[in-house]
Amino acid sequence: MNILVTGGAGYIGTHTCVELLEKGHDIIVLDNFYNSNPEAIRRVKEITGREFKFYQCDVRDSKGLSKIFGKESIGAVIHFAGLKAVGESVEIPLDYYENNVGGTVALLQVMKQFGIKSIVFSSSATVYGGNNPVPYKEDMPIGGCTNPYGQTKYMIELILNDLYVSDPAWNVIILRYFNPVGAHESGRIGENPNGVPNNLMPSITQAAVGKLDKFTLFGGDYDTPDGTCIRDYIHVTDLADGHVKALNKLDAKGGLRVYNLGTGRGTSVLEMLAAFETASGVKVPVAQLPRRAGDLAVCYANVDKARTELGFTAKYGLERMCVDSWRWQRENPRGMLDEKQTIN
Ligand code: NAD
Ligand code: WQD
Repeated sequence: MNILVTGGAGYIGTHTCVELLEKGHDIIVLDNFYNSNPEAIRRVKEITGREFKFYQCDVRDSKGLSKIFGKESIGAVIHFAGLKAVGESVEIPLDYYENNVGGTVALLQVMKQFGIKSIVFSSSATVYGGNNPVPYKEDMPIGGCTNPYGQTKYMIELILNDLYVSDPAWNVIILRYFNPVGAHESGRIGENPNGVPNNLMPSITQAAVGKLDKFTLFGGDYDTPDGTCIRDYIHVTDLADGHVKALNKLDAKGGLRVYNLGTGRGTSVLEMLAAFETASGVKVPVAQLPRRAGDLAVCYANVDKARTELGFTAKYGLERMCVDSWRWQRENPRGMLDEKQTIN
């Protein structure tokens, strides 16, 4: 039986494919290359030395999905495909609802049609909204998201809940990621955001390599020990391992389970910047700006449930996150577009 990985050419998808292949799973990957390209698939094969089938297909394309499900033997789906830029989601909300919510409904319909009822879904810590106390626990109320991207994750969680209530034979695992950073240790796969990056780590590495003039630090007056925001950064390889462990939890009986994937540790922006400078030996030019709209002061996970039920504990600390992000950035200044491109 194969695991179908939607969005498997993307940042978290490629790392998860590597972990799955290395743990002996057979996979089939589907992606529309909206935010990735075929080189990502080639590199997953290169890292693992394993072959697998790839389909260029959109999850909103029910006919295309039906053809794949009709032809292939699929046991479960890991569903990464979707749009993920918070700021962009405010500008083009309909695209986010159509891709994320519409795409997931189309996928679930086809899965139902073919009797495949096991799915692992990529949710986000953003569903905890702004009113829960930290650390966030899986049984806290969710919703109250401040942007359309977050709303899509919240809505999809509701849809999965309703689906499970309608038919308890479904086996649903919702994974709420905290802040994924880092790259595969080979330096061959990693994240390459389009345009000016939104997230912390690519902003730091691009300033360090000279692609950005400066790293802009948003807000130094939060009610935190050093005045900068605190987040729970998790190495993408750990995150990928969390998916492999989640798959092992899917069983024949059915169930709906929710797990946080984080480290349980909070790190401030200044702490991450210092860790990066130590790991890379590069002094990063910084420009301090006022707070960024929508940022919470502190966000980190309670990781007890993932530890006790999945046997998942994040292995990698800040140093490794920075070393791997830096290697990826230096060796692939244009992401996966060209081979052999090192700046130094
Ligand atoms: P990514 O953009 O690198 O990967 C997503 C992949 O899905 C891309 O390869 C893209 O081409 C593909 N895709 C997009 N729309 C599609 C569609 N309609 N049909 C088929 N393929 C499509 O993003 P990522 O960081 O790897 O995130 C993966 C998932 O994890 C997303 O659902 C994202 O919302 C979620 N997530 C990400 C983060 C994060 O910080 N990166 C945090 C929490 C949750
Ligand atoms: C972290 C901290 C910034 C960039 C977002 C989404 C969330 C999830 C993960 C997808 C904050 C500060 C950042 C910069 C900075 N994504 N920062 N300068 O906002 O916690 O979460 O990504 O699911 O849904 O909201 O992550 O990396 O953007 O920011 O000072 O150039 O770094 O202000 O304090 P965030 P982030």
